[in-house]
Order: sequence, then C-alpha cells, then structure tokens
Amino acid sequence: MQNQKPEMNNANRLEKANASPHAQVGPGRSAAHAAIIDGKAIASALCKDLKTRVDHFKARHGYAPGLAVILVGEDPASAIYVRRKGEQCRVVGMKTMEYRLHVETREETVLELIQRLNGDSAVHGILVQLPLPPHIGTRTVLAAIAPSKDVDGFHVTNAGWLAIGEPTLAPCTPWGCIRLLHTLNIPLRGERALVIGRSVIVGRPMAQLLLIEDCTVTIAHRYSENLADLCREADILVVAVGIPNLIRGDWIKPGAVVIDVGINRLQSADGTNGHRIVGDVAFDEAARVASAITPVPGGVGPMTIACLLENTLRAAEIAAS
Ligand code: GUN
Repeated sequence: MQNQKPEMNNANRLEKANASPHAQVGPGRSAAHAAIIDGKAIASALCKDLKTRVDHFKARHGYAPGLAVILVGEDPASAIYVRRKGEQCRVVGMKTMEYRLHVETREETVLELIQRLNGDSAVHGILVQLPLPPHIGTRTVLAAIAPSKDVDGFHVTNAGWLAIGEPTLAPCTPWGCIRLLHTLNIPLRGERALVIGRSVIVGRPMAQLLLIEDCTVTIAHRYSENLADLCREADILVVAVGIPNLIRGDWIKPGAVVIDVGINRLQSADGTNGHRIVGDVAFDEAARVASAITPVPGGVGPMTIACLLENTLRAAEIAAS
C-alpha cells in the first residue's frame, strides 16, 4: 500500500511539539530530550475558555450548569479527586452538589439517589466516583444514570455512540489525552497508536477515539505477548495500566509521542511516611528517546477534570436546546 501521509521523523516531530507554548524543553536539557507536555497549562487554558462559555450560558439561560458528584466510602485518593472536581467546578462558575455516602450504604440507596438526580432539572451531569465498594454493582449503578447526564461517558448508550464513531459524552481521561495531542498539533492520521490497558475508563475509549482520528490502533493488555516489540512500533503510545515504570526507555520508538495515564504512589525509600507519584513509563529513560511525553503528575491528570467540566457544560447545553 502506498504511504501518502507526510513522513514524520524524530527531528520534525520534536520541532513541531516544541513549537507549542505548552510543550517545554527545560533549561539544560539536551536537544535529544523530549518536549514535556504541560497538561496543567493546557487544562488551565481550557478551563479559562470554559469559564467564558459558562458565563454566556448563565447570561442566556439564567442558571448555571450543575454537576452532582457521588462518593461512596472514604478511599483517600477518591476523596481527593472528588474535592478537586468540586473546586474546579466552582472556579469555572458551575454549580456542584456533593453526596458523600457511608461505605456501607446499600446499592438501592445509591440507585434511589441517582433516580432523584436524573429527575432534577438543576442537575446536568452525574458522576459516581469509582471504584465503588465491592457490595455495590458498578455496572448496575452506571446503567442507572440517565445517558444525557452521564458526563463520565461510561453508560452503555454513550459507549455505543463512541463505538460507532459518533461520541456524545466521551470518557474524560481519554478525551483529555486527545485534547493534549490536538493542542500540540501532533499528526494522528495514519500513525500507529498503541494503547496499553483495556479498562472501560481509559483503554477502550482511548482506542476508539484514536480510531476516530484515523490512527492504526492496537490494544495491548496483560495477556499480550512481546509488549516491548509492540511498543517499538508505536508512533503514539498511551499507557494506562497502573504499574509503576513498566515501560522502559529502550521500548520506545525514537521520536514517538508518549502519553502516560498511570498514577502510582511509591513509598519513599528512606523509611519515612513520604511518597512520590510516578507514572507507568520510566520517565527519564523515555524522555531521552521520545519526541514528546506527559509528566506524572502534571500531564494527563489535570485534563481529566477540565474535560469533565466541558462534558457537563455540553450536557447542560443539550438539555437547554
Ligand atoms: N475513578 C478513576 N477515574 C475515574 C473517572 O474518570 N471517573 C469516575 N467516575 N471515577 C474514576
């Protein structure tokens, strides 16, 4: 088959990524060092734009888009995410309602709350923070959310729209990854993309979104063989497995773009209570080979919340139209 897309090599990829104000090659870094994709700055610009759109929405309709967030239990990481979501909602001028339920709350109680929120016209988006305690059926709960308010994009109806290539409310983390790639003008058509991880939250929808971008997509998972060889073929590598530093530098194709979705908490080696957050990719090694790479933290994470707010605004706009 004849290859009609313009050839991207390591040098012009790096040039392109570095041309963006959101990708930085820091002081003292060699020319062979990847551009660091500044997800925090890109998310912040997106939120600024959202605030303007929310202001217009409020002026036009007389009310703010509203997001209801449900947290069952006290998982510390989930509690932090929920708090951040609420804070960012307020920053862009949206209304937020938080429902913090006891870890032993019965499934029926969660379903009743969702039914009530489905019928509440002040609520445009409903998010149930995952994971749920084991006695609550995740599928059952997600299926109870009205698809038009499913700002996580996890309902089978929205997953189905995405699967046929017509996303409505797309899952926030993969949508955030695509927004990063678009912001940096990274060419996607015809590129080989490898997604490692097949979760409903990230891997599967990520693959669908890359397919919509005309990438040649491969999905790898725990049973995939020769993972390193699959990686070496990828122009775009998205990793979402939750295994610290799984992907080594010599697995990366020179000039590839690396999106690290992993957020792993590593205990400090000095025996104190300290910890540090690392991704699924061995960052320093990969940055010597890739043309652009997301850091952890400060890469994909901030984009997830920005895209959640964008989905909430979109849900409110559709409801109002
Ligand atoms: N837990 C981890 N990521 C997510 C997410 O994107 N949405 C929800 N609801 N829970 C999560």
